[in-house]
Amino acid sequence: PKLAGVCGWPIHHSLSPLLHSWWLKHLALPGAYVPFAVDPKTAVAAFRSLKQTSIVGVNVTLPLKTAAFESADIATEDAQKLGVANCLYKSRGQLVAHNTDLEGFAAPLIAKIGVDRLQSGSVLVIGAGGASRAVLGALLSLGVPEICLVNRTDAKAESLVDQVNVPSLYALPWSRRQEAAARADLIINASAAGMSGKPALDLSLEDCRDSALIYDLIYTPRVTPLMKAAQARGLDTLGGLEMLIAQARPSFKLFYGVAPPTDIDPTDMLFAAL
Ligand code: ATR
Repeated sequence: PKLAGVCGWPIHHSLSPLLHSWWLKHLALPGAYVPFAVDPKTAVAAFRSLKQTSIVGVNVTLPLKTAAFESADIATEDAQKLGVANCLYKSRGQLVAHNTDLEGFAAPLIAKIGVDRLQSGSVLVIGAGGASRAVLGALLSLGVPEICLVNRTDAKAESLVDQVNVPSLYALPWSRRQEAAARADLIINASAAGMSGKPALDLSLEDCRDSALIYDLIYTPRVTPLMKAAQARGLDTLGGLEMLIAQARPSFKLFYGVAPPTDIDPTDMLFAAL
């Protein structure tokens, strides 16, 4: 039986053990997926020691994604694009850093609206933290021609745009977010606003395009205030749990050698556990 898991600090809140274990059970695959609490102070040593263990691989969550990337012998293209890893696995005696967030973000989006619409549309991304980097990386890989970034603290959006430095990406001040929302075909909330216990995102959807899609990366609550407002306005939505499930799928395949089942949907099971 193969053993894999997820490393974080703290780790008790992670839904990954539940999700991977559920897939293992449905496939009747021998194996286990467990949480590992890894102190950031010892993370590099812990990751490097993976090669000497029988653990087939691990997912990595906050705040260890940079340490994971730096601990590996080699990195996949997607991990290199982001400079952080959310997945470490062993291949031919080497520890490989990978990142499934690009695929996890893009898969539900492609399933919902298709690559053609993404490649002809304009996207508004809200937030300039770690989640936004993965979102921008994925949108650029998909060939989105126009991406506007806004963040509550303007300087952080400007600095991220400068770092990425491609002509299709620009920042607008927070004070101009309504104007940016009105011209977007896709609006992505990659900020922490709207998370349970935090204030809702201060953005009105009144002047949005009727065809706009609203993608909120937050999954607690299941329907965020932004998604509620979108649905009330008749707009299509995607939620963060779809990304969570989609980023877990390639890891499962890497660890256990079999793709997770597609005929059953873990969404309700995960929400029941939240
Ligand atoms: P992560 O790395 O997971 O994305 P983070 O670095 O804490 O998390 O980033 C949180 C993002 O949410 C930031 O862009 C933050 O904006 P600031 O840069 O101004 O802090 C944004 N954010 C948090 N609360 C917000 C709120 N109430 N309204 C708008 N943006 C918010």
